[in-house]
Amino acid sequence: MYYIGIDLGTSAVKLLLMDETGRIDNIVSREYGIAFPHPGWSEQEPADWWDAVCDGIPALLQGFDASLVRGIGAGGQMHGLVVLDKDDKVIRPCILWNDGRTQKQVDYLNNEIGKDKLSRYTANIAFAGFTAPKLLWLRDNEPENFARIEKIMLPKDYINYRLTGVHCTDYSDASGMLLLDVEHKCWSREMLALCGVREAQLPKLFESWQPVGTLTAEAAALLGLPADVIVCAGAGDNAAAAVGCGAVGGGRCNISLGTSGTVFITSDSFGVDSHNALHSFAHADGGYHLMGCILSAASCNKWWNEEILHTQDFAAEQAPITPDKLGANDVYFLPYLMGERSPHNDPAARGAFLGLRMDTPRAALTQAVLEGVAFAIRDCVEIARAQGVEIAASTLCGGGAKSPLWREILANVLGIPLTLPQTEQGPGYGGAMLAAVACGAYPSVQVCADALVRAKSTTEPDPAIVEKYNARYALWHTLYPALKASYAAMEALQ
Ligand code: XUL
Repeated sequence: MYYIGIDLGTSAVKLLLMDETGRIDNIVSREYGIAFPHPGWSEQEPADWWDAVCDGIPALLQGFDASLVRGIGAGGQMHGLVVLDKDDKVIRPCILWNDGRTQKQVDYLNNEIGKDKLSRYTANIAFAGFTAPKLLWLRDNEPENFARIEKIMLPKDYINYRLTGVHCTDYSDASGMLLLDVEHKCWSREMLALCGVREAQLPKLFESWQPVGTLTAEAAALLGLPADVIVCAGAGDNAAAAVGCGAVGGGRCNISLGTSGTVFITSDSFGVDSHNALHSFAHADGGYHLMGCILSAASCNKWWNEEILHTQDFAAEQAPITPDKLGANDVYFLPYLMGERSPHNDPAARGAFLGLRMDTPRAALTQAVLEGVAFAIRDCVEIARAQGVEIAASTLCGGGAKSPLWREILANVLGIPLTLPQTEQGPGYGGAMLAAVACGAYPSVQVCADALVRAKSTTEPDPAIVEKYNARYALWHTLYPALKASYAAMEALQ
């Protein structure tokens, strides 16, 4: 028996083929472009995602018996606004999770409607990347497109729609729309009224492991799969990654160093942090979670190496950063290349290097990039700690987790052990696990995670280095407040 996991990411779709014992038999990935049509905006064509899936799945199945595939599950980039017309045609490109165009709409929601009300309706306040402010932006700026909307969905829901013909979503992903009453797991009538949308325009809600349908004849033929393959609702990529890393059930933490960086804290019961600084969302296991999200994590390292240093050899750039340099770097980096979500909620924030001297070597800047992202992740962890949430250890996934140096830096900046699961294919592996549960191979997500997820290695913090990083973090933490007004002025000049 095989299960296909789809990780619908920001730079590529990663597809994996898992057997019923949890072994990964094949992985294929297909990249697609991202458009930045205006500073701070980011968009993708849903057709590009679908083309990548259609190209990738037959390649994934090459050399395997496709008739043994039982289920498909997707974890997808969250919050993106996909809108379809009455003929189920995409109306405009998807506005992505890291798009910062909605400041005006966010201010309206948070200040005029009020954070208290939003939190009561949805358990969350408005952030620029969330879906509801994007709907308001569309209503204000593209009224003719807004009027044509027949269906609203999230990125992985578009793939599930193309696979099954069903308009569906799951609670974990729907939580990030600011349209869901997260505690009661139903659409918020108040939020729908505020955004001028009807419930009929929204997808049907499912738990992540529930089957939503089987393949359409057209999709089965295109992908070379049997038509009775079950598609489950899937999850937002962070919830799917948490499942794939075994962060299932209450009291666990998973950190992702992907394009974004996230701290995902699981809970058996619903809860909201006192200032709504962390997101309060449903988990893909039936429970809930708190999450902090920084908009640029591994993407900072990619930008620094590829765009600035013009190299693909990230390991060579990191080689001069020997153990004695940890906690001893005088250069500081603010990783706000796409503005920042947690904790600043400031689309105008931008990246910065500080502390440069005439004798600063290239490697100090490379190190500062890795450290700046780690400090920003710590900002999220500190908010949770301030709420009394104990984070004593975490699993780690995402492209950035592949760097032993970055793991070392992060473990010491956070002061906790970080465990890599045997597979770092977080969202794709979680998606395949959800599909296995949907097909009845496991009775629950918890049983599936207990059976399949194993640790590969753990990076322990070193108390002496932790102490040094505590001092550096305290300094780094003063930099954003010092620059905030300048960021706003820079934005005004654009
Ligand atoms: C989470 C978030 C990002 C995207 C990345 O709130 O916006 O982690 O899901 O794909």
